[in-house]
Amino acid sequence: MNRKPYIAGNWKMNLDRRAAVALAAALREACQAFTDRDVAVFPPFVYLDEVARTLAGSKVRVGAQNMCDAANGAFTGEVSAAMLLDVGATSVILGHSERRQLFGETDEGIGRKVRTALGAGLDVILCVGETLDERNTQATERVVGRQLTKGLEDLTLDQMAKVTVAYEPVWAIGTGLNATPKQASDVHTYLRGLLAGLFSPKVAQATRIQYGGSVKPENARDLLTSPDVDGALVGGAALKPDSFLAIARFR
Ligand code: PGA
Repeated sequence: MNRKPYIAGNWKMNLDRRAAVALAAALREACQAFTDRDVAVFPPFVYLDEVARTLAGSKVRVGAQNMCDAANGAFTGEVSAAMLLDVGATSVILGHSERRQLFGETDEGIGRKVRTALGAGLDVILCVGETLDERNTQATERVVGRQLTKGLEDLTLDQMAKVTVAYEPVWAIGTGLNATPKQASDVHTYLRGLLAGLFSPKVAQATRIQYGGSVKPENARDLLTSPDVDGALVGGAALKPDSFLAIARFR
């Protein structure tokens, strides 16, 4: 199975309106030629509308970094799937480790968000990843296995066509300390095996698994050409067109 690489930029809580639109405009032009890879950006909520307009009709898709698991109602401060679609987002990142660690998100809650997002018609990037303690105590497979299983609970085989998994070791995020290609590849292969059991071998072969955590132009090629690695979820290096594009052009 030939999986198309998928390179996504998670802008986190960075940039201002002018910088967000300028970055989007630069990517719009540079990505027009891409046919063999998918590219997406995930700006802060308040810039989604303008970034989506800037990228309308281009090769670059736009998504959000989070959303509410409820459809609408009295949820002060939250944003719904329908609202994301309304402003031109077609995708959402769910279960990022910063959401899990800093905002108390649980496996169960993330699973609910995944079901809501897919039910509304959004694509999903589901993030999983172990802490350094968990890696050092040989708990990596148990932790990412639980996060994957709960995050994808109750999905149909068809719904899995709209899901990307991102393996992001917490110790590698924003630290400059990326996983080695072998470390990444081993976990990706493990996750793909789990997907075969949870869904089907066909779904496992078709599902893209991105690596995330200190991906830079200098390490992108080695990481992204490793077995079972199908692209990257990029944080810091996604904030500048040159570094993001260098990663997107890893080969
Ligand atoms: P980083 O972040 O590339 O800055 O390590 C990755 C992420 O959190 O998605």
